[in-house]
Amino acid sequence: MVSVLLPCFLAAALSAQASAPAGPWDAFNYAPKSRTVFPTAVKAVHGPVQNAHGLVSKGTATLSGNGAWVALDFGVEVGGLVSLNFDKASERSSIALSFTESPVFISPRTSDDSSYPSANMSYDGVLHVPAPLPTGFWTQPPAMLRGGYRYLTIVSTSNEPVAVSNVSCAISFAPHFPNLRDYSGYFYAEDPVFHDENFLTKVWYAGAYTVQTNTVPLHTGRQVPFVQSPGWLNNATLGVAGPIIVDGAKRDRAVWPGDMGIAVPTQFVSTNDLLPTRNALSTMFAAIDPATGALPESGPPLSQLGSDTYHAWTLIGTHNYFLYSGDGASTRPGS
Ligand SMILES: *[C@@H]1O[C@H](CO)[C@@H](O)[C@H](O)[C@H]1NC(C)=O
Ligand SMILES: *[C@@H]1O[C@H](CO)[C@@H](O)[C@H](O)[C@H]1NC(C)=O
Ligand SMILES: *[C@@H]1O[C@H](CO)[C@@H](O)[C@H](O)[C@H]1NC(C)=O
Repeated sequence: MVSVLLPCFLAAALSAQASAPAGPWDAFNYAPKSRTVFPTAVKAVHGPVQNAHGLVSKGTATLSGNGAWVALDFGVEVGGLVSLNFDKASERSSIALSFTESPVFISPRTSDDSSYPSANMSYDGVLHVPAPLPTGFWTQPPAMLRGGYRYLTIVSTSNEPVAVSNVSCAISFAPHFPNLRDYSGYFYAEDPVFHDENFLTKVWYAGAYTVQTNTVPLHTGRQVPFVQSPGWLNNATLGVAGPIIVDGAKRDRAVWPGDMGIAVPTQFVSTNDLLPTRNALSTMFAAIDPATGALPESGPPLSQLGSDTYHAWTLIGTHNYFLYSGDGASTRPGS
């Protein structure tokens, strides 16, 4: 496979200093232009919803009737807190929000599982916004943050009409990046013999963006023990400092050194951002078993123990971190 593809590369370049130069590769960068994002399309409508399209064109949509819903598409994976404006509601109007990464799981009754991967795929449920609704600007409770989703469904849960507008998501990942698109590395490799000549470039940027979404604020981990179904909570503390790199934006949202084996080189070549790795490794060393020297299998609050493989991945990760950063002060024994 590699021998077939390599001669076809027209251009490939990596850089790990400052900002990448502008070029055709920028079209493949998934990161949003702004830290506040708005839905780009209406994916589905069910029941009486007037002007659903207003939600993607600065307008107001009205849901009238219990069970009426509209599913909005942000165009890419996002994660963070939803805000919206309640323009008009009666005393008894109420809504619920559900979230999913894949359109397959769009549902007015449940979100894709982030608390626990249950066989029924309905562990999480929805975020209820009960009556009486506030008037004007509203933001979802921070503890109910969703770390990864593309589709947001707004459901009317009463027979009273409710008018909403200005739906947005304030992105929570990569909190130390004012400009999410400011990568230091870039990649571009056309492959004229493959059916999608930009396939490799798309894969590279998909990996880079995935790792960006996995770089999260310290106090946004999944709660352990997992909250009872239905529900989710992402307000646990993930380690000794943030931002910190976790295994997945939606789930588990915990430090896993084995996953870092792939994620850290990805982050090095894309954003050259090693702070989340330093914080994750420091978290593992802070939890070393003083009697045996064993490192934990995962970060808190999961804090799983007893994996030789993941112990070794923390050591490999420390080697990689030093190799990429030259930061001897953080990696010296006893520091
Ligand atoms: C789904 O399964 C979980 C256990 O994994 C259970 O707690 C929950 O009630 C179930 N949800 C539904 C809607 O059946
Ligand atoms: C609309 O949402 C944006 C982004 O969340 C917010 O900054 C703005 O204040 C909201 N507009 C109104 C009129 O509330
Ligand atoms: C997380 O949020 C829940 C619900 O708001 C709250 O009861 C709990 O105390 C919070 N936990 C932490 C660690 O902040």
